[in-house]
Amino acid sequence: MNPVKVGLLGLGTVGSGTANVLARNAGEISRRAGRGIIVTHAASRSLRSSINDTSGIKFTTDPQDVVDDPEISVVCELMGGYEPARALVLRAIANGKHVVTANKALIARHGNEIFALAREKGVMVAFEAAVGGGIPIIKAIREGLAGNRIEWLAGIINGTGNFILTEMRDKGRDFADVLAEAQALGYAEADPTFDVEGIDAAHKLTILASIAFGIPLQFDKVYTEGISRITREDVAYAEQLGYRIKHLGLARATPAGIELRVHPTLIPERRLIANVDGVMNAVLVKGDAVGPTLYYGAGAGAEPTGSAVVADLVDVVRTLTTDPNNRVPHLAFQPDALSSQPV
Ligand code: HSE
Repeated sequence: MNPVKVGLLGLGTVGSGTANVLARNAGEISRRAGRGIIVTHAASRSLRSSINDTSGIKFTTDPQDVVDDPEISVVCELMGGYEPARALVLRAIANGKHVVTANKALIARHGNEIFALAREKGVMVAFEAAVGGGIPIIKAIREGLAGNRIEWLAGIINGTGNFILTEMRDKGRDFADVLAEAQALGYAEADPTFDVEGIDAAHKLTILASIAFGIPLQFDKVYTEGISRITREDVAYAEQLGYRIKHLGLARATPAGIELRVHPTLIPERRLIANVDGVMNAVLVKGDAVGPTLYYGAGAGAEPTGSAVVADLVDVVRTLTTDPNNRVPHLAFQPDALSSQPV
């Protein structure tokens, strides 16, 4: 069977990581997907990229070339941000293409519109890489915990923020200095205020809560506070008292609805989650049947995030391979099982 052709939108940290993982592990990936997966087109502003093997890839500066190309079955949106990502993803879906995205801002803000069109067109939209970097947290909740009523979830879901808090504690470094390093390492958002003001974590919590509780994506319902006002002294005092300051996203089922909040939290240092350091993320999910579960891994970075993008590509390709019409039931997301509303 011919390989499935993929077009990438964006060749930054995540785009390059995805292309490199796909090329390096092509044998394993095609065995698992039942078919090869190759990048044939890539759009980026500068066309400078750290893809190791560019052979067979058509490069363009115009992303429309990719979403309109009839050869491409799956578009990977790895540009980030609200626009033009939204318009491009909607156009790709309208053209009958499946979409894989790492864009939490896009899904949290415009997911309802995107999934409605995807259902109409019978295409998949997958977004594992949008939350928790390389941790397969969406698949864990949606598939692994499918038999549970989720009671609450809580997690460190912004790698940049956790890296800053860890470096402030361990090395007494300045906030601004560590943020600059996180930017250089490709962890931070294009606008790093999204990381330090809790907006990125709120995007991710919106997505996790929607999957866990079957509620619509309602980013504006999340109480959002970041770490920008935390000082080295705060971190040191917490340490003296036997606590760590961690920025958490929390979602909890209450009789009044689903509580959604992101903010800095004092956690006793003996707790596992208090010891999640650097760019690592961790998410605790409590199900009524399974009890508490914990998922841990790199929350940002090229190949960890690429790993999650490729997992979604494999999912999409497996589904296509078993569906002769290339049209699928809406597997990636079920936002319409509305049991409760956020409060
Ligand atoms: N800026 C994000 C973070 C990237 O630091 O967690 C991964 O979503």
